[in-house]
Amino acid sequence: MIVTQYVSELRRLRSELSPPVGLVPTMGFLHEGHLALVRQSQEECAATVVSLFVNPTQFAPTEDLTNYPRDAERDMRLLEEAGVDLVFAPQAEEMYANDHETWVMVDRLARRLEGATRPTHFQGVATVVAALFHIVEPQRAYFGQKDAQQVLVIDRMIRDLHFPVELRVADTVREPDGVAMSSRNTYLSPDERQAAPVLRRSLDLAERLWQDGGRDAEQIRKAMVEAIEAEPLARLDYVSITDARTLDEIHMIDRKALVSLAVRIGRTRLIDNAVLPPGEPLLTGGSPCS
Ligand code: PAF
Repeated sequence: MIVTQYVSELRRLRSELSPPVGLVPTMGFLHEGHLALVRQSQEECAATVVSLFVNPTQFAPTEDLTNYPRDAERDMRLLEEAGVDLVFAPQAEEMYANDHETWVMVDRLARRLEGATRPTHFQGVATVVAALFHIVEPQRAYFGQKDAQQVLVIDRMIRDLHFPVELRVADTVREPDGVAMSSRNTYLSPDERQAAPVLRRSLDLAERLWQDGGRDAEQIRKAMVEAIEAEPLARLDYVSITDARTLDEIHMIDRKALVSLAVRIGRTRLIDNAVLPPGEPLLTGGSPCS
């Protein structure tokens, strides 16, 4: 495994890899969810590049950039064991010049759900992912469905800006009690960790209601809110049922829908989601491969 922090060196090393090249963009502090993306890339591509970069521009000034969990040594060990070909681990100055002023903004999709309380988040994500696509030039890029809105934003960016990259989306990897794997789970105290399965429980409830014929989004939303409110350590940020393509809120679930929620447990904000009908892929078709 070769590791570099420099764009010019990455480009040189990348040019020696045979296509198709898969990119797994990460912010490090790797868990099984990231490693599942790496394995999928390795199955589908001739070479796999992983980026490790805690992207400052996707954090608001009030968010947890400095405290974001980091363990570069462990990340490198895991990637080496996984057999990754190339790791790109730049410093912030390598990705952003002091006078950086170019942004990729996906408009409406990025203002919904997470974007309502984190207005600059997806601009930071889209900008860094676009830069990584230009630097690494992957044929395929791998993202987890846990960040469903991120997937939709990047899918739209790929289409609108004609990136020759195929977006591959992997199922959310969960702990045995249903908690979606996330680097942020490490912030939870033992009591808070016990409370965290409430997100999955409320999504299960939505799926069950849908399986029983429930199509009234407001009723399902209400049942989910009650399930969250029954957990004393949980504070609901939002529960939303939207058209899975446009992220417009819907009243009747008469098409593919995305059920998403954000919940604060103590000081940690967790997100999760499910697609209805259960088992449907989030993206249909995906973005074309060049
Ligand atoms: O999902 C993440 O870890 C980040 O948002 C990403 C895609 C690596 C961009 O910084």
